[in-house]
Amino acid sequence: MKDNILSNLKQYGQEHLFTFWDLLSGLEQHELIDQIQSIDFALIAHLYEQRNAPAESLTIADRASDPPAYKFSTVTDPTPCKPRKSVSVQEAVLAGDEMLSRGKVGAILVAGGQGTRLGFPHPKGMYPIGPVSEATLFQFHFEKILALSQRYGSQIPYCIMTSPATHRETVDFLEQKNYFGLQRDHVFIFCQGTMPAVSLETGKILLDSKNRIALSPDGHGGMLAAITRKNENGMSVLDSLRQRGIEYLFYNQVDNPLVRICSPEFLGYHLLSGSELTSQVIRKRFPTDKVGNIVEADGRLYVIEYSDLPDEVARQTNSDGSLKIWAGSIAVHLFNAALLDRTSKITTSLPFHIARKKVPFIDLQTGERMKPDKENAIKFERFIFDLLPSAENAVVVEVDPPNHYAPLKNASGSSSDSPETVKRDLVAMYADWLRKAGAVVVAETPVEISPLFADSPETVLQKIEKNTAFNKPTYLKNSTRHVE
Ligand code: UD1
Repeated sequence: MKDNILSNLKQYGQEHLFTFWDLLSGLEQHELIDQIQSIDFALIAHLYEQRNAPAESLTIADRASDPPAYKFSTVTDPTPCKPRKSVSVQEAVLAGDEMLSRGKVGAILVAGGQGTRLGFPHPKGMYPIGPVSEATLFQFHFEKILALSQRYGSQIPYCIMTSPATHRETVDFLEQKNYFGLQRDHVFIFCQGTMPAVSLETGKILLDSKNRIALSPDGHGGMLAAITRKNENGMSVLDSLRQRGIEYLFYNQVDNPLVRICSPEFLGYHLLSGSELTSQVIRKRFPTDKVGNIVEADGRLYVIEYSDLPDEVARQTNSDGSLKIWAGSIAVHLFNAALLDRTSKITTSLPFHIARKKVPFIDLQTGERMKPDKENAIKFERFIFDLLPSAENAVVVEVDPPNHYAPLKNASGSSSDSPETVKRDLVAMYADWLRKAGAVVVAETPVEISPLFADSPETVLQKIEKNTAFNKPTYLKNSTRHVE
């Protein structure tokens, strides 16, 4: 077996993976073979060859125009949007309510990233972000799903995508927390795939130890392959969802506790505009804001990552001074299950992106593990938003950051997207909901609302007596009416 594999490796110049073979135990040899067999060497060779090809997004940027867009009802910015088809807020909410009560909607949380920038040694979902409760990011998301299931009297199947780096700990954590009240048979946890890292200089696959290849998660776009991978009974997670009548899948990243999961208004714009893929965007605060840019080109939507958007294009403005490329993706999407099914059968649906990174590796001469101080490797990742051009009638929905977006990306002390800024934004949003319900929130008082108590200003209104005062840290957590 080893000789067969070796001759295949030689064809691709990757035979160095066997350098330490004779030093390995039987078990270690087995592990190495397993990893080698999971790699598509022809693909790796092709991707490495293409590493300097200009990003497709560069040509798209030249032809980019406004994407068709709806405005979420909480947005106050007056800059007009052009929807594909006119839909009122009431129509959207009604349609979304119906999708939920008929049990047509499932949700997926992508939680496979390693959270390197945050500097937290556990899956990011375990980060305690509740400003009063110290609830974890996972708790925020799970309770939103539970609240929706209770409100609509229908189950929302919840999919959690992990990666080899986060899988075990996530499963153990959720098990220990009893899935925050969700029924176990409505939770689907699955692990995304990996891709090997290659040397930037030679294209050779790096070893992380003598019997382990340097593998990393294949990007959140790995969701498409992972959710449609068949198990031993020939069923994928997507097959199971569709069997339960699910037609739409709401998608969000683990890092944003403000996300309004399956908001009926958002669902309604998707359904009534006949879109197969709808994404939430914010109006970029400045031209080089670090978000993916959603644009239209030749009748299709595309995301141009901030790193691929030339500065001079990012700075272009319309005659009223507003940015030409204004729609920043917050990585919240709604997919038709049929789109996922269709595109999963086409191998080129999601291209691989190249990231130049510092990746520790085993020196083949000395056997020592080296920690590079500059970029030495290429990682290959797929991005789920690259499905946009394959989707019919894709649209975006503009949302406002104070009510929808405060991601946890950076370590404590950073000036943006840090634990402090996220907690600040959470408190500001909850205080605003309470004030809208007629409560008095004394300035600087930390207030927090569990999604099980209320998950929108409208639901707070039904639970709070007018003039209720909040003058000490408060966590509203159960569904009973709050009077103080
Ligand atoms: C991402 C988007 C960016 C968007 C921003 C909004 C990309 C490349 N960019 O940036 O367009 O404006 O979010 O916050 O996505 N993940 C996996 N598996 C992986 C990699 C990532 O599950 O292999 C998950 C992470 O757990 C996380 C999310 O995807 O929930 C985002 O990944 P990250 O690499 O942090 O993207 P950003 O640079 O923050």
